[in-house]
Amino acid sequence: MLKKMMFYTRLGYKLIKKDVINKDDYREEYNKVSETYINWLNEMGRFTDKIISLEHMPKDKKLKILDFACGTGYISKSILEKDINCEITAIDYSDKMLEKLKNLEDNRLRVVHCDGIEFLKNTKEKYDIIYFGWGLSYFNHRKLFRLFKKVLNDGGIVGIITNVQGTLSDIEDIFMKVMYRNYEEVVKPMDIRFNLPNGKKGLTKWFTQYGFEKIEVEDGEVLVTFQEPEQLLKWLNETGAAAGTACIFKDYDLIKDNLIQEIEKVRYNKGRYEINHRFAYGIFKLR
Ligand SMILES: C[S@@+](CC[C@H](N)C(=O)[O-])C[C@H]1O[C@@H](n2cnc3c(N)ncnc32)[C@H](O)[C@@H]1O
Repeated sequence: MLKKMMFYTRLGYKLIKKDVINKDDYREEYNKVSETYINWLNEMGRFTDKIISLEHMPKDKKLKILDFACGTGYISKSILEKDINCEITAIDYSDKMLEKLKNLEDNRLRVVHCDGIEFLKNTKEKYDIIYFGWGLSYFNHRKLFRLFKKVLNDGGIVGIITNVQGTLSDIEDIFMKVMYRNYEEVVKPMDIRFNLPNGKKGLTKWFTQYGFEKIEVEDGEVLVTFQEPEQLLKWLNETGAAAGTACIFKDYDLIKDNLIQEIEKVRYNKGRYEINHRFAYGIFKLR
């Protein structure tokens, strides 16, 4: 009982003081993930492809495209492979993720190493399309969508794919349990849950509140399975799916066994360990 009180008091205090996983922590995590992010793309890139459509755009002009939080540039690369009259600005704050874009020599591409919000606030440019893959959870959507509006031309569109509530089922509880048992090891909690929309309905609601109309929107879910619980944890760490969680504890390596034991108990299904990625994707147009 006393332990529970101390745990929640400590957690509450850190949340109030905003002593939580922050932008710098996420950047560091993505710097580490950059070498293995390809694993995510190999499994999930086929869904990102669904938003890379130019169907709703004018064909008779040079398109100005912003690949926001571009990471290793999956979206930019796919567009450049098409024969399109365009100019792409790809922006991300992880230098190591951006390194994977460096050797791409194409004069239609400009790579910017910068915090996303600062970029949107300061740019004088206007764009016809913003592509935004798998990054929404790292931003305050209210602030972000206002800025998207600012930098889009009239009738401009946003193509987005994002995790939604219900993704990585049980993982949050597993981390909470391990944090509780090892509360003296907890340096910073994480509050990413609040940044995820409630499926396609929630995503549409968020966009319409900021003056966008829905062109198309869908829900999706993928189950990834593993023979061993260690592999599941490795997947979370290597793909960035649980980016930030390593910074919760003083020494993540000391905590790993506890996490694996919990995964073993909770995510076992018919001889395998599985994890779900729930997401929504769509195209929204500025009214
Ligand atoms: C899951 S990756 C997505 C990369 C890419 N859009 C894709 O579809 O593969 C999320 C990216 O968001 C970037 N990111 C997170 N917060 C950011 C911020 N405040 N400013 C710029 N980039 C940010 C990370 O560095 C990381 O590269």
